[in-house]
Amino acid sequence: MLGAVLFLLTVVGSATACQTWPNSTETATNWWMCSSGPMTFSAVTTVDCKGVFEYPIHLNKPLLIRTTANNAKNVYSSPGLKQTIKVWSWSTIKCAWTSLPTFGLLNDLDACTNGVNCPIKLGPQTLDFELDFSDAQQIINLLKNDSPYQLEYLLHDDVTGDDACLMFQARSLLQ
Ligand SMILES: *[C@@H]1O[C@H](CO)[C@@H](O)[C@H](O)[C@H]1NC(C)=O
Repeated sequence: MLGAVLFLLTVVGSATACQTWPNSTETATNWWMCSSGPMTFSAVTTVDCKGVFEYPIHLNKPLLIRTTANNAKNVYSSPGLKQTIKVWSWSTIKCAWTSLPTFGLLNDLDACTNGVNCPIKLGPQTLDFELDFSDAQQIINLLKNDSPYQLEYLLHDDVTGDDACLMFQARSLLQ
């Protein structure tokens, strides 16, 4: 009997501990930098393809991650600037992010022809990163409506070796 009660408490305890919307993604984007410069970001928001703020986001349509950035050191351009995007879904069973396959579709792409406005000039600026999975239907097929997703948006410059990396968590609708 005591064992059953303890078991029940454990189950209820862990169920309440795992949130449906980690890091308050129910209402707002959570983001942080996953590189240490020379490019830094001080604000990140999401807008649709018309430039209108949108939250929750729609990962099945093109959207822009609009950042306030400071590019401190080098100008970046094609073909050196490469883009890799990783995607995770949230498991309320494991209470952890689980990596989604991207089928090689989002690895090491030419950033300047995949949604980055190049060249990336020096200094403080508004820098948009387009996220467009609409030609990656295999990835969209894995997404669930109204769920939290985590994305890593990595820019790597082959010329200088510099990285600029953003981690990004948001609630996503598929309409
Ligand atoms: C929540 O966000 C922080 C950074 O803001 C991050 O370090 C942490 O791993 C995130 N937790 C989850 C469950 O994603």
